[in-house]
Amino acid sequence: MAIERTFSILKPDATERNITGAINAMIEAAGLRIIAQKRIRMTREQAETFYAVHRERPFFGELVAFMTSAPVVVQVLQGENAIAKYREVMGATDPAKAAPGTIRKVHARSVGENSVHGSDAADTAVKEIAQFFSGNEIVG
Ligand code: RTP
Ligand code: MG
Repeated sequence: MAIERTFSILKPDATERNITGAINAMIEAAGLRIIAQKRIRMTREQAETFYAVHRERPFFGELVAFMTSAPVVVQVLQGENAIAKYREVMGATDPAKAAPGTIRKVHARSVGENSVHGSDAADTAVKEIAQFFSGNEIVG
């Protein structure tokens, strides 16, 4: 298996409840390394660009409002098979359908306020990392 990098966001429902450390502990317990991390307040423009693929979906407005409602923590995670592994650790989008022990099963409030984001493929990981980090902010 190859060492990969993936992009992660600890969403506003996580920063609001002060559980970013608890989520980071679950990430690290899964064998993923946090090789870049910063807390930001996402602008509307950043959120619309980030979720552009969902622009036509009925929940788009709600999603952008949520992602800009409070600080988020953006991260780069590194490890073997990191993209698929993090999706597994996150659990299904809807916490009601997420497997036991996953971040979303343990922490998410709802399908919208679901605590974390993780890239879904190698090309999106590269693009998402580049939207929020410059090369010298990533220390592997
Ligand atoms: P993410 O992109 O945040 O990692 O989540 P995902 O791949 O599991 O889910 P995706 O289909 O890409 O949806 C992106 C985010 O939009 C919100 N959402 N709300 N109200 C709804 O029905 C609904 N569906 C999706 C969630 O915050 C989801 O993570
Ligand atoms: Mg997605």
